[in-house]
Amino acid sequence: MTTPKKLFIKTYGCQMNVYDSERMAEALGGQGYVATDRADDADMILLNTCHIREKAAEKVYSELGRMKPLKEANPNLKIAVAGCVAQAEGAEIMRRQPAVDLVVGPQSYHRLPEMEAKVRSGQSALDTDFPPEDKFDHLKSRPKARRAPAAFLTVQEGCDKFCAFCVVPYTRGSEVSRPAARVLEEARDLVERGVREVTLLGQNVNAYHGGTTLAGLIRDLAKVDGLERIRYTTSHPNDMDDALIAAHAEVEKLMPYLHLPVQSGSDRILKRMNRSHTAESYLKLIERIRAARPDIVMSGDFIVGFPEETDADFEATLDLVREVRYGYAYSFKYSSRPGTPAAERPLVDPAVADERLQRLQALITEQQQEIQQSMVGRDLSVLVEKPGRLAGQMVGKSEYLHAVHIEDTTAEIGTVQKVRVVEAKRNSLSAVVR
Ligand code: SAH
Ligand code: SF4
Ligand code: F3S
Repeated sequence: MTTPKKLFIKTYGCQMNVYDSERMAEALGGQGYVATDRADDADMILLNTCHIREKAAEKVYSELGRMKPLKEANPNLKIAVAGCVAQAEGAEIMRRQPAVDLVVGPQSYHRLPEMEAKVRSGQSALDTDFPPEDKFDHLKSRPKARRAPAAFLTVQEGCDKFCAFCVVPYTRGSEVSRPAARVLEEARDLVERGVREVTLLGQNVNAYHGGTTLAGLIRDLAKVDGLERIRYTTSHPNDMDDALIAAHAEVEKLMPYLHLPVQSGSDRILKRMNRSHTAESYLKLIERIRAARPDIVMSGDFIVGFPEETDADFEATLDLVREVRYGYAYSFKYSSRPGTPAAERPLVDPAVADERLQRLQALITEQQQEIQQSMVGRDLSVLVEKPGRLAGQMVGKSEYLHAVHIEDTTAEIGTVQKVRVVEAKRNSLSAVVR
């Protein structure tokens, strides 16, 4: 028997990359690889990268620089770069860092086994095509390994929205949905392997159109026995249709949490961002969602310091945040991305952008803490995911996605527990089984 080769994967960026890394690990499993969590022990290092902001992309090159000496120590080591930097920069990566053997873009992962064989024969391999076949059909999982209770499931990929700041339409290509039958098949398979909660993923997941709408897909998934919870992310405000809002009122397995990025509260900036919604239309939409599911916890994304953002524009963003009351929100300083339309526009003074980011984050943290505090004394349900750090403690997520520590419990992993919250900590809730 040949000894297995060891694969070290490091994943950057969004949840879709997490999902893709799992699929790539499975595909390379077929080539005799087993996972290792030590880069210095690996026969292949695979960086699954993100191009969304300059910092994210630059991190990859510094990481590659750190990994280069490992190649001198182990001549068998191959270094691979996947993900959105691979797609955006292609062969440039090998020029900048010659230690890299393999570069593969997100739509070509099913070709990874062939590419691996090629690099083992001493050649380099590059593939950043957008092939017509469905990569996931060719990335079938190997025998039924047990899975953690919460899993991601990509249902839609790519984006046709072309927000003026964003690289995703270029790195992931145009919007493609996986057929609903495939998604259901994968969900059933996940359930057999111990999964109880799926988060449906797509860059614009609510634009899903794989033979049915996202609402239709959610209703079909809700019928899968053993699947207890459904979530989806990320949604675009313009694709939040009535049927999806109704699903939040009617489908019990659909969790009351919604990530709905708005980016800015200023219509002037939203227009320049090419977002095609206004602050008012967004607020009205949230009103309708809350009418359907009053307890829903909202989450969002914001960019501050978008080109030509004034103090008044920024104040409008703060106003919007005050109005919505977010349970979670992610805010980023604008990062100019080569090739995107906004990259041509004059930048905001970085010191001003920094100050705005701090103010926005302070407001968001305040709201987050308030909502977290409001959970004390309430009864929640928690999907148990793993043991906690203290004896007798288990951790999992509430329906609202809060991290919850259940104290003094024998609750098993993969079960949904009814708990009462006794304390709100900074980043988690503490609870006891009812
Ligand atoms: N498809 C999702 C999110 C994609 S990227 C959506 O439409 O919302 C995740 C987040 O990164 C975005 O919501 C945005 O807030 C942020 N982002 C994207 N491009 C950026 C840039 N150039 N600079 C700073 N933040 C950016
Ligand atoms: Fe990027 Fe906009 Fe598409 Fe989201 S909707 S992925 S922000 S272009
Ligand atoms: Fe980053 Fe690509 Fe995801 S740019 S956020 S890894 S889609």
